[in-house]
Amino acid sequence: MTTTRILTGITTTGTPHLGNYAGAIRPAIVASRQSDADSFYFLADYHALIKCDDPLRIQRSRLEIAATWLAAGLDVERVTFYRQSDIPEIPELTWLLTCVAAKGLLNRAHAYKASVDKNVETGEDPDAGITMGLYSYPVLMAADILMFNAHKVPVGRDQIQHVEMARDIGQRFNHLFGQGREFFVMPEALIEESVATLPGLDGRKMSKSYDNTIPLFSSAKDMKAAISQIVTDSRAPGEAKDPDNSHLFTLFQAFATPAQTAEFHADLLQGLGWGEAKSRLFSLLDADLGEARETYAQLIERPAELEDILQAGAAKARRVATPFLGELREAVGLRSFREQVQVASTGKKKSSKGPRFVSFREDDGSFRFRLLAADGEQLLLSRNFADGKAAGAVSKQLQSGAELDIRSEPDDGFTLWLDGACVADGPQFASSTARDQAVEALRQALQPQPQ
Ligand code: TRP
Repeated sequence: MTTTRILTGITTTGTPHLGNYAGAIRPAIVASRQSDADSFYFLADYHALIKCDDPLRIQRSRLEIAATWLAAGLDVERVTFYRQSDIPEIPELTWLLTCVAAKGLLNRAHAYKASVDKNVETGEDPDAGITMGLYSYPVLMAADILMFNAHKVPVGRDQIQHVEMARDIGQRFNHLFGQGREFFVMPEALIEESVATLPGLDGRKMSKSYDNTIPLFSSAKDMKAAISQIVTDSRAPGEAKDPDNSHLFTLFQAFATPAQTAEFHADLLQGLGWGEAKSRLFSLLDADLGEARETYAQLIERPAELEDILQAGAAKARRVATPFLGELREAVGLRSFREQVQVASTGKKKSSKGPRFVSFREDDGSFRFRLLAADGEQLLLSRNFADGKAAGAVSKQLQSGAELDIRSEPDDGFTLWLDGACVADGPQFASSTARDQAVEALRQALQPQPQ
């Protein structure tokens, strides 16, 4: 089955509220349960540092957001859930991307432009108070997305431009270093039209910046207190209400079944009092979220356990990130010297036309090498060697014009033997004819260069 890789980050500067839950957390968890979904959800704590220089708040928010997602039902066996700052490959990729990202592109980022405009308006220096972190924000985000080759990136509308920039930057990298290979998949922003933007206490979008939020998992008492603050009109109990123009009704609807919604709608029309309406909203939310609230409280009490879960998530993410970054380093020229020595000794003039040996290390610590044709096609892949010396000796022997013992294999591949030991495999071919041609090309490639 082909899977869709979904990836999104949550900036760790605040405590999730009901609006975050309905708008982002709940739909993301639902999406992660689809059988073809391969979800990567992470705490964007490096991004948080751009907006916040209060270490306690950063730390608190990371803990709260991690606990919120787990309490809300995220299954960490199914998804890859991690902290951005636990993946050292992310800042490393950020640098590789920074080196290809056009400054002009970043000049156009909305968030940066808004800050400049504000400075200009108030007669300040255009760059007053603007850090390089804010300026480079989209490159870090591009690294988040491209590191894992995400297909779909669920985000709010304000983030669409950043996903487009990730495409731009990724495409440029592919073009410069891919040699025909697409290192990076082009990601797409996923804007869920159906997802609720919940209204806050005053009817504007629920947001911390408006100070109109309803807490999600703090306590039943806090939630009740917030609900009592929801602004309504002054119609008295017994008077007909207008549910379709009531944000209290909108809030109710976001958590109710269609039948519950219909009943509430009818009761409001028939004069249900606002006080009673608020207590019904509370009961609804409490029934839906009460159990998760308890889980949340337990998780917050056991931060070491959360740490373990996130470390396991980081290890899982790095199983993808580490080898991939290795290939990217290789592509830009950050290569082992061992290989360079070999390149230099293959063609005497270090000609780019000749084949080249590329050595690398496997995760298990063993040493291997590839022989690549001038066009980058793989001619040979060595077996695993316990130490670099042994691998180096074999590739040296191959370059010195040793008699090649090449054996055809029944699967239209071939193996290469030295002193009675199999040292390398050729690729598999579609036919024995194709294989025989490749073997001939390999013999040519490994012929001693005329001095
Ligand atoms: N910038 C995003 C926001 O503020 C958070 C984020 C960071 C993100 N990296 C990401 C979202 C990668 C999606 C993909 O909402």
